[in-house]
Amino acid sequence: MDQKARTLIDNLWKQHELKEEEYFYILEHRDLELETELFSLSRQVREEHFGKEVYIRGLIEFTNYCKNDCFYCGIRCKNTNASRYRLTKEEILSCCENGYGLGFRTFVLQGGEDPYFTDEIMTDIIRAIRETYPDCAITLSMGERTKEQYQRYYDAGANRYLLRHETANEEHYGKLHPKELSLANRKECLFHLKEIGFQVGTGFMVGSPYQTNETIAQDLAFIQQLRPQMVGIGPFIPHKDTKFADAPAGTKDDTLFFVGLIRLMRPNALIPATTALGTIEAKGREEGIMAGANVLMPNLSPITVRKKYDLYDNKICTGEEAAECNACLRKRVESVGYEIVESRGDYQEK
Ligand code: SAM
Ligand code: FES
Repeated sequence: MDQKARTLIDNLWKQHELKEEEYFYILEHRDLELETELFSLSRQVREEHFGKEVYIRGLIEFTNYCKNDCFYCGIRCKNTNASRYRLTKEEILSCCENGYGLGFRTFVLQGGEDPYFTDEIMTDIIRAIRETYPDCAITLSMGERTKEQYQRYYDAGANRYLLRHETANEEHYGKLHPKELSLANRKECLFHLKEIGFQVGTGFMVGSPYQTNETIAQDLAFIQQLRPQMVGIGPFIPHKDTKFADAPAGTKDDTLFFVGLIRLMRPNALIPATTALGTIEAKGREEGIMAGANVLMPNLSPITVRKKYDLYDNKICTGEEAAECNACLRKRVESVGYEIVESRGDYQEK
């Protein structure tokens, strides 16, 4: 094991910050022994702050229409093979009702950037959920909007917003997105969301095409600068109708390593063990929890649309009812000694 890399991990554990070049050094000197050291610290920190608890968020994939053409994404606008759907307000509320009965206290509305959902329609939906479930958190994940729009959603009752930065390197961002999209705008959105008072989540795909240790060090430095309450990282998985169809998927080992580092950097953060991690490896989510993750985001979308929210190939949990998924996840979490709890699971500054 490289002793300097070991010392840097200790410093991250104690001080929660490193320089970009120090993250790079760790990434370049990673080996099995260093991973073991990291995971023993990241699990310890996770348990100091959250014990054995795992929070659940009910994911409602409310539209797969999108005006963007992110090159890696199965529901990008130019994919004419995608079969498009939108959920109605009534369908969304019925997902919430089902989820509430199963113990969910956070609902995540995620979708493509769909112009059909105007601010009027969105705020009407958010208000309806807020009035019916005053004890629940409402999380949005619907891409880039103006600060004024985000403010309207917040005023209507939304509490949290997920917007992965995807990559903190301009050139890399340009290789994954069409030229109308920019890293500068994505970052500005994140800072706007924080200024408004949302609990903010960012993150990136692990193993996305053209990713390097340099770009990952930049991702980690950006997360350190933004100080998000939530950090979502999961492996990139190719989708057959994209130009990256033949690119390799990100790996479980890489994803776990970065989860561990982020746990040391952001001890109180809400970090999901993602569905993508469970897709590339049967026990990926369980291992994610043991590496420092503390959130799971099972699907509450109606079974009729599950397969259509097709971001990447072979996505798991598209055939089971929410109740079945819930029971399956509880067992999986218990199998590694952890426990799903019925709680909003808000970020706590300690
Ligand atoms: N439109 C919203 C946005 O842009 O934030 C939310 C929906 S978008 C599909 C949610 C996330 O899916 C993206 O931030 C991206 O990281 C992830 N994603 C898209 N395609 C993926 C792929 N092929 N493999 C893994 N994750 C993917
Ligand atoms: Fe818009 Fe993927 S391109 S959600």
